[in-house]
Amino acid sequence: MIIFKHSNDLQLHLQNIKKNNRTIGFVPTMGALHAGHLSLISQSKSQAAITVCSIFVNPVQFNNSKDFERYPITTEHDILLLEESGCDILFLPGEKDIYPDESSKNKHFDIGDLETTIEGKFRPGHFQGVCMVVEKLINIVDPTYLFLGRKDYQQSLVIKKLLALMNKDVIIKICPTLREPNGLAMSSRNVRLTQEEKDKAAELHKSLVNINNEVAKQDFTVLKNKEKSRLEKLGFKIDYLEFADAGDLHVLEKYNDHDKLIMLIAAYLEQVRLIDNMLVTA
Ligand code: PAF
Repeated sequence: MIIFKHSNDLQLHLQNIKKNNRTIGFVPTMGALHAGHLSLISQSKSQAAITVCSIFVNPVQFNNSKDFERYPITTEHDILLLEESGCDILFLPGEKDIYPDESSKNKHFDIGDLETTIEGKFRPGHFQGVCMVVEKLINIVDPTYLFLGRKDYQQSLVIKKLLALMNKDVIIKICPTLREPNGLAMSSRNVRLTQEEKDKAAELHKSLVNINNEVAKQDFTVLKNKEKSRLEKLGFKIDYLEFADAGDLHVLEKYNDHDKLIMLIAAYLEQVRLIDNMLVTA
């Protein structure tokens, strides 16, 4: 694996690859890699000639400075995992490369209601920050395919919208969420949970499964309240539990079997904020 720390060097290298019409798969990350990320690398390797992974903990997408300070950094271990996974290129830029000055952090992207609904309501500015970094990374790597995890469902819709705004012909591949055997969605933030907390954290997924089993028979509000109070009794502090149209994430108050529905949840367990989602299969 070749490691590039400067965007200019990476771009020069990739230009040669593109001259030979070779496809590029891109997996953007913030490091603290786990099996979920590695599954994206493996998807990319099976579909593209060259796989590029980036690791950059993007300061402008953290609406909470404590969350940024506590974000796990495990770069040496990440490099070992990427080597083992067969990733071809790692882009490991410094902050100055991505944001040369303060004005480069000021751009606004018109992503419509996706900015303020559900996750956006609780993390103001977060999706603007995601757009800021992803626009820069896409311009640097100029990939054929972009691989994202379904766990960050709203983020994947935001990035789809961003690519449309950029007029970029990148093929976006949303890959399944990888889970621990107990159902807990894999996340870099899980390293901040004790084993006992990890066991408890799996209850979020269980709530989604419980709701999915009942969704056609019971009122949304009743189902949500039942699972919210079950989780609160277990010690979770819930930001949201919502049903939404899986296409545009407008929140739905009533079940109907025409729209493709998704349930989305975010909750704190101690200091750690966890998110998960599930497509309704009733
Ligand atoms: O999902 C992530 O890890 C980040 O939000 C991303 C897409 C790499 C942008 O910083």
